[in-house]
Amino acid sequence: MEGSEAIRPDKYTEAGHTETGRYLGAFQRVERRGDTFVLRAERGGAAVLFPADGIFRIKFFWQGEPDLSSTVAIDPAFRQKSESGIGLEETGDRVILRTSLIALEIDKPTFAFTVRDKEGKVLCRQTRLVCQPRSGVHAVYDMPQDSHFYGLGEKSSFLDKRGERYTNWNTDVYAPHVPEIEALYQSIPFVIHMAGGTSCGLFLDNPGRTEVDMRTHADAFTMGCSTGDYDLYFIAGPSVKDVVTRYTALTGRIELPPKWALGYHQSRYSYMDQEEVLELARTFREKNIPCDVIYLDIHYMDGYRVFTFDPLRFPDPEAMIRELRGMGIRIVPIVDPGVKKDPKYGVYREGVQQGHFCTKLEGDIYFDEVWPGTSAFPDFTDDRTSKWWGDLHSFYTENGIEGIWNDMNEPAVFNESKTMDLDVIHRNNGDLKTHEELHNLYGLLMSKATAEGLKRQLDNRRPFVLTRAGYAGIQRYAAVWTGDNRSFWEHMALAMPMVLNMGLSGLPFAGPDIGGFAHHTSGQLLVRWTQMGAFFPYFRNHSAIDTLRQEPWAFGAETEEIIRKYIGLRYRWLPHIYNLFQEAAATGLPVIRPLVLEYPDDPNVTNLCDQFLLGDAVLIAPVYRPDTDHRAVYLPEGRWFDYWTGEKLEGGRHILAACPLDTMPMYVKSGAIVPEGALAQHADDQTDGNLTFHIYGAEALSGFQAEYSLYEDDGATYDYRDQTYSRLNVRLEGQEGGLKLSYAYAHRQYEANRSLLRFKLCRPEFAPSGVQGLPAITAEQLGEGAEGWHVDGEGSLIIQAADRPSGASWMITAAN
Ligand code: NOJ
Repeated sequence: MEGSEAIRPDKYTEAGHTETGRYLGAFQRVERRGDTFVLRAERGGAAVLFPADGIFRIKFFWQGEPDLSSTVAIDPAFRQKSESGIGLEETGDRVILRTSLIALEIDKPTFAFTVRDKEGKVLCRQTRLVCQPRSGVHAVYDMPQDSHFYGLGEKSSFLDKRGERYTNWNTDVYAPHVPEIEALYQSIPFVIHMAGGTSCGLFLDNPGRTEVDMRTHADAFTMGCSTGDYDLYFIAGPSVKDVVTRYTALTGRIELPPKWALGYHQSRYSYMDQEEVLELARTFREKNIPCDVIYLDIHYMDGYRVFTFDPLRFPDPEAMIRELRGMGIRIVPIVDPGVKKDPKYGVYREGVQQGHFCTKLEGDIYFDEVWPGTSAFPDFTDDRTSKWWGDLHSFYTENGIEGIWNDMNEPAVFNESKTMDLDVIHRNNGDLKTHEELHNLYGLLMSKATAEGLKRQLDNRRPFVLTRAGYAGIQRYAAVWTGDNRSFWEHMALAMPMVLNMGLSGLPFAGPDIGGFAHHTSGQLLVRWTQMGAFFPYFRNHSAIDTLRQEPWAFGAETEEIIRKYIGLRYRWLPHIYNLFQEAAATGLPVIRPLVLEYPDDPNVTNLCDQFLLGDAVLIAPVYRPDTDHRAVYLPEGRWFDYWTGEKLEGGRHILAACPLDTMPMYVKSGAIVPEGALAQHADDQTDGNLTFHIYGAEALSGFQAEYSLYEDDGATYDYRDQTYSRLNVRLEGQEGGLKLSYAYAHRQYEANRSLLRFKLCRPEFAPSGVQGLPAITAEQLGEGAEGWHVDGEGSLIIQAADRPSGASWMITAAN
């Protein structure tokens, strides 16, 4: 017997896609409301805003009035904002909105659009916008033959995303991290499209499931969402750098992290008890391996209850933390969102009694399984709950903790869908939404609550938050690590394009688990990965519970020695790395960069991602295959210096670099300056003393020029916001018969802890014969802190002088 279900209508008709124009009905008019434009059709339309120069926002609405609210991804300064002075023209079938940089032409019958630059060149063409009532909107964009795609945050596969298709849906992927995995832990629906020598960006601000497909069509790519609003930002270039700068103005930039967060971090799932943690710290110090942070994974808690310590394993956390701080090491504990259902547990009780947990519409708390067993999940979409959660962190900060690790915040749940039920309701400050609509925001809002709570408690000191899940804008609140990779050489290689694209997507503070999390690392893999990690923005060694140990000394003396050397290099390079973080905080440009960012016109680098730049002038070429003692390196145009041998190399070609196990190929561009500090055991040790500016490729020729601007502050507090920082500008300029070296403080309200400055002209292209105003000194006198100049055994000229607030300059003369 069959029931009526046999003739269900969906068996016979497909829920078809409908052209937006048809869905919206006939175009009616443009309304100008202040600086916002509303293009109205019979049944809805589109609102267009211009949040900043070179950016427009187009948000479609399907009935009634447009909703101009935006998600937390958008920096508050740009929410609902629209620039004035936009020109409006109308023709028979088009509406044209003109700014000083771009013209947006919207087709009245279809609502599709074309963006042109001032010269009329097409920058972006949306050819179709199709909607499927209740299940999403997809737009089709032109994809010329020479298109390349970057950004999209944390995705697998190569740097250039052409030929790929991705879903944005924060997912706990323990395995596998392979090219065909379309969604990982982070969702950044932002793509940079480079074609015809120009770049632009598209950001679809929708925290539900979104999709970007650069594979299916030969000449088009699509960007769509399956629920919620099609709220699209167009971001003009013309360079990739311009797009990144504008995108990060819109979604915000990192806060300057505390310096200790840029040091080496050691983690393990899990260091099991207090004694093990202390012993680990002592071993680092005994072995002279620098380290700033040790992590506590889930075993520190009492039955995985967040905001507790296990009384047997960690009987006196405060004393442990004090002893560690004496060694210059900080603790960062893990905090997951799942709160154990246990009526005797204070956090759970309070959460229930005060209504902080996510519920179903009917009012029942949503429970599911995670580490603590049945758990409830705070509803971070409500400011009241975020405040509660942030305040709970005084449990940690009162024990001397200044950093928190947010994990499992996709949220990850041990059920078939791997996350919260889609019909869970988020209170969202009164504007109720389903989890399906807000899924990708959960991790960001948890880290926001955490960062804000820590800030309230840390009395002007900068907190550190690390997160696994996130959405566009996460950079304002947390650093990101790339989740559960494996100890595979392939995963080491994969980390480069992944972290580089994260940098282009506004997340400069990112990195993978060094050595690999799951599976078993080897001494060789750990060495190579640590070499690379020493130059990644986030530098943590972490491994899983059932794997071989992978602390720096785990594989014997030879590997330990090399690892010590590279971790040490990280600390020596901290002044430069901190400077690059300051630049990232100010401009949004990433700390490590794909070559295409600096050399966009070089066809050799559009998909180059097994080497990268630290800043704009240091090239790092990690070794990411076993038993490899040579690798190909591409040097872009210009002259480069091998960091290790000083060899001068002409760029614009590939070279074969020797790379025995203790060498990771590194190159510095001629004319670059890299400040190096002292080798310290932790970042607090990093007195600003012993600062040497290494200057590469100095030539006694007019036209030669090298410049560097060093930012310094206390590395710990927010005092820099009150001008307590310094900016020291160094310049070397070739002139007739010599070079002029000068330094000057452009700002000096922070006083570095040093009395001397050193400048090293690394193997200059001339024989120095003197430095006017300074005496020649011996190596010994140099070591004793005398002012003067000295040429070392390699032919490098070292100038040492008092660090004077007024600055100084000298003429360096060259022997004929
Ligand atoms: C999953 C995280 O990705 C991993 O880093 C952590 O060690 C485990 N959860 C246990 O907390």
